[in-house]
Amino acid sequence: MVVFEKAPAKINLSLDVLNKRADGYHDVNMVMTTIDLADRVSLYPLHRDDITVVADNQYVPNDERNLAYKAAALFKRTFHITKGIHIELEKHIPVSAGLGGGSSDAAAVLRGLKRLWQLDHVSNATLAEMGAQIGSDVPFCVYGKTALATGRGEHIAHLPAPPSCWVVLARPDIGVSTRTIFPKLTLNDVPSTYTEGVVTALETHDFYAMCDHMGNDLESVTLTLYPEAQRIKEKMQQYDIPGVMMSGSGPTIFGLVEHYSKAKRAYNGLRGFCHDVRLVRVMG
Ligand code: C5P
Repeated sequence: MVVFEKAPAKINLSLDVLNKRADGYHDVNMVMTTIDLADRVSLYPLHRDDITVVADNQYVPNDERNLAYKAAALFKRTFHITKGIHIELEKHIPVSAGLGGGSSDAAAVLRGLKRLWQLDHVSNATLAEMGAQIGSDVPFCVYGKTALATGRGEHIAHLPAPPSCWVVLARPDIGVSTRTIFPKLTLNDVPSTYTEGVVTALETHDFYAMCDHMGNDLESVTLTLYPEAQRIKEKMQQYDIPGVMMSGSGPTIFGLVEHYSKAKRAYNGLRGFCHDVRLVRVMG
């Protein structure tokens, strides 16, 4: 049997950084939702007890540094499985972009191996707990949809999906590693409360209130380090888009738009301006 899983990208609708913890991580409050941009993950049984990974993207390592590999290794260890697995990653989500591509691939491997090896008793909550050992965003990716993430990002509470809308994605030709961004953040004396506003807006299905409350504390670091990302944000704001923000630790900037015609206008305008522009929908 071969198993295929879709691994959707995420965007942050908010990201409040609360405090630095003794373990080096930061406590955060954030809302994340999925978009219809996805990697495809294929799982093939191997005759020998081994894990192999192949990705069709030069920036993705084909070894134990790959989060998909780590997910398979953890799954085999946890459930004492001595069978082998070959993982193929068809990458569509840009790498080191703030869209959770690596985390989503890892989550897809956990879901897929559960199906392949028919461990029906294993719950999504268990997969999410395992995911937390791989990366802070992996538990969210196990469930997908729309959620409030707290702690270092691993505690998940489900939220209503955002009102349907278009997402204009634009990214400069650079990769950003999350671990280099958090340590450079100057924490506010009073933590920001973007998340509270976004949660209320989702609960009341209010698209414009959601856009008004969106905010990301990590922008202050990434947009200063990479002025080209700042310029993309400013350019996108010129198209009268209600919600423009950076996703995760960046550098991808996205804009939420209700109407296709306006989204398409922004997409066309940005294409002449930056390396990678896409027009997708919120899935949530
Ligand atoms: O959990 P993950 O491995 O994705 O995190 C990568 C790095 O980002 C961590 O090593 C840490 O430096 C930083 N981070 C953080 N606080 C979080 C999540 C990540 O400081 N909540």
